[in-house]
Amino acid sequence: NPLQGASFVLAAHRIDQLPADSGGEVAFAGRSNAGKSSALNKLTGHHGLARTSKTPGRTQQMVAFALPPLAQGEGMPPLDVRLIDLPGYGYAKVPEPLREHWKREIDAYLHQRRSLRGVVLIVDIRHPLKEFDRMMLAFCQDTALPCHVLLTKADKLSRNQSAQALAAMRKQFAAEGLLATAQVFSSAEGTGVDEAREAVVALLRR
Ligand code: GTP
Ligand code: MG
Repeated sequence: NPLQGASFVLAAHRIDQLPADSGGEVAFAGRSNAGKSSALNKLTGHHGLARTSKTPGRTQQMVAFALPPLAQGEGMPPLDVRLIDLPGYGYAKVPEPLREHWKREIDAYLHQRRSLRGVVLIVDIRHPLKEFDRMMLAFCQDTALPCHVLLTKADKLSRNQSAQALAAMRKQFAAEGLLATAQVFSSAEGTGVDEAREAVVALLRR
């Protein structure tokens, strides 16, 4: 597993509390309860790493995890790499001021973070793209930031239904001229884990 050996660094309430903005970083974004923290745990193979919960709105910080440095080409120093678990978005019970706060911070993070190499957008495979997902896709498109979508909780659908959901999403991306990529995923059953790990490493190396 190329993402093995991840460790917790810190949880930030504001972007100026994040680790130094150097090396490479991939952010996990998505609506509240979509399965971001579960996907992070599954991909790193470290189960208690990110806190997950049945209650939406669990992650109320930007949580940074360090990965072992990535070896680069001959004569190049290893690259410091991190994964960032972003707070979930769109949960009605989170008080309005807090929602406004995270909207601003996520926006500032996406615009300002120089080490950000790409976004892994976590979407529940049973639900079509919601407003937050669309915003994130549009942002990535506008700023030429790669976005890889994990259609997660695929264990809730049959294989056939999952394949159809993936095909529909790719068709939609093509129709809208979006460069985002997508795959089927399940943290519960491990579906698509190898493909997703490769996608994350490719983003970190970008
Ligand atoms: P917030 O931090 O609240 O934004 O949520 P999150 O996106 O980090 O979601 P989290 O990983 O905490 O998962 C939310 C719920 O979905 C938990 O009850 C998980 O067990 C469940 N869940 C996550 N991934 C899967 C999956 O692949 N399959 C199934 N069946 N359940 C999942
Ligand atoms: Mg979470």
